[in-house]
Amino acid sequence: MQNEIVDIEDIAVNPRAQNSYTVTLSDIIERNFSRRVVMGGMGAAAMSVLIGGCDGAEKNASEMPVKSFDFEEIPHGVDENIHFPKGYEADILIRWGDPLHADAPNFDPYAQSASKQARQFGFNNDYIGLAPLPMGSENASSGLLCVNHEYAITHMMFPDDGSLSGKDKSDIEQAALGNSIVEVKRDKNQKWHVVQDSPFNRRITMLETPITVDGPAAGHQRLQTPQDKTGRNITGTFQNCAGGMTPWGTYLTCEENINHAFGNINHADQNNPEIQKAKRFGVGKYSNNWYKYDPRFDLKATPNEINRFGWVVEIDPYDPTSQPVKHTALGRCKHEGCSVTIDKSGYAVAYMGDDQHFEYLYKFVSKAKYDPKNRKANLSLLSEGTLFAAQFNEDGKMNWLELTFGKNGLTPENGFASQADVMIDARIAGDIVGATPLDRPEDVEIHPENGRIYVSLTKNEKRKEGNIANPRTDNIFGHILEISTQNDHLAQSATWDILLFGDKTGSYKGRLACPDNLAFDGQARLWASTDQGSAWSKTGNSDGLYAVTTEGKERGYAKLFFRSPVGAETTGLCFTKDSKTLFISVQHPSADDTDKWDGFGRKSTFSDPATRWPDFQANMPPRPSVVQITRKGKMI
Ligand code: FEO
Ligand code: CA
Ligand code: CA
Ligand code: CA
Repeated sequence: MQNEIVDIEDIAVNPRAQNSYTVTLSDIIERNFSRRVVMGGMGAAAMSVLIGGCDGAEKNASEMPVKSFDFEEIPHGVDENIHFPKGYEADILIRWGDPLHADAPNFDPYAQSASKQARQFGFNNDYIGLAPLPMGSENASSGLLCVNHEYAITHMMFPDDGSLSGKDKSDIEQAALGNSIVEVKRDKNQKWHVVQDSPFNRRITMLETPITVDGPAAGHQRLQTPQDKTGRNITGTFQNCAGGMTPWGTYLTCEENINHAFGNINHADQNNPEIQKAKRFGVGKYSNNWYKYDPRFDLKATPNEINRFGWVVEIDPYDPTSQPVKHTALGRCKHEGCSVTIDKSGYAVAYMGDDQHFEYLYKFVSKAKYDPKNRKANLSLLSEGTLFAAQFNEDGKMNWLELTFGKNGLTPENGFASQADVMIDARIAGDIVGATPLDRPEDVEIHPENGRIYVSLTKNEKRKEGNIANPRTDNIFGHILEISTQNDHLAQSATWDILLFGDKTGSYKGRLACPDNLAFDGQARLWASTDQGSAWSKTGNSDGLYAVTTEGKERGYAKLFFRSPVGAETTGLCFTKDSKTLFISVQHPSADDTDKWDGFGRKSTFSDPATRWPDFQANMPPRPSVVQITRKGKMI
């Protein structure tokens, strides 16, 4: 997620922000990449792509079969519509407001209510996962689409005719956020359709869904509020950005920019440590209006409520009556996504980015082993384990630093009284152990064959000094890190490399800017979507989806496959197991900096948007939607 709201408030809050190594880009190339080919100049604005790496894995890389992409790259640009290559087809699968049940109301943006919205597809879809039906099937033609609804944009959601009160809007927004689980089926023409009367269809909303809590912080006093004295029962989840599907068939959804909902900090008790700690989440720079109508978002009234958000939430899509669980063992931060694998040792391992300037990359290792025959037991794998934060070193190695109470300085002298504190304040724990502040860690994906970890560092325009893993100052176009695990995800150290640097499109054909969501397709090829935010006007290219070459002499080359309409972001992407369909989330069409587009030249509103994609009907606002891409039955 990146829009004007975030530009205002998404500040660097880590006090260690600039307190890092002083290493120039040239130093890094000299030390670590000198054997490799470097294209282009060394200036920050004309940053080049480094091909290959320092980690020894490059030998493996050159031995890897080069997997090419055979589509014809689409032109860069900005306009009202989506674009995709010749020979492919794009259809809208589902859009904001579409009814999720046979008896749910049709979308009428001029007569919306919270109860209607709670039975319709939510706003600003982001992460997409697909749970096959039946569970575990390899080439299913039916499945449960699991979709995040990240954040509300009041001026794009509601008519400005005064028909709705502030409280109405607040309730509808909360009903529009959270998650959708929707059964989808593929027809003989390879097109997917929503099964509207499926018993699996379900909304999980910020407004009303009960969610339980487990792990070290469950029930802790810092999670208790006047409304929930147990500290174990939380209403709702929101700011659900990216996520992940687990090997045991559940859906993980991650709470990111939680600060947006929390207001009235200036009247809160400044001596309350929770209020001071809330500032590490950027609270106070911007908030929506929810706190005016519900005291749980008012930091003066309910200072602990913010501790109940910022978690990874697990949902079982196969059981529509199941209660989602917030797993405190995975730490609290602005969670972007959560990618889980089963290590060869049998333990579940999760990788997670914390998306804010100068924040950290995390890894979780389960205490129990995965049991392919016992799904019920697997549902607790994320309830207990060990959390680590990443430290990148100048010798091309990196270490995973354990975040366990009593170890590595996580002691009472440093403000930690228990493992619950370590989890609630995972960012502060990361500071103390010496994790490396990164350039906004977004999505993380695990290569399905060689186990390498790819980490999108979307950008960091606030970086004044480089560090080893973030060498570029004023890093407005981001980069992608690669960690070579040698398929040993329990190892305390690994080697690492930079796969690519984002670039100003046009300097090098096909370079992407501001990588965000990542996914591998059925051929183990990497794809990356972008979130340039206001930076799109610097590239002259809307956000899109790129095919990224990870091996061979074109390693690091990114080729544009899909482009979003003006002001939109391309967020979640999901391939079917047979790779014959690609689902893409198009988020916030018409929202970002449409005043900078010559074709419109002004800020968009509900009644005057820069595009009315995807309906293109007068009086229908632009609608965030899921697009399906197919290729006449062939693999993407
Ligand atoms: Fe919601 Fe980090 O993107
Ligand atoms: Ca983003
Ligand atoms: Ca994102
Ligand atoms: Ca992903």
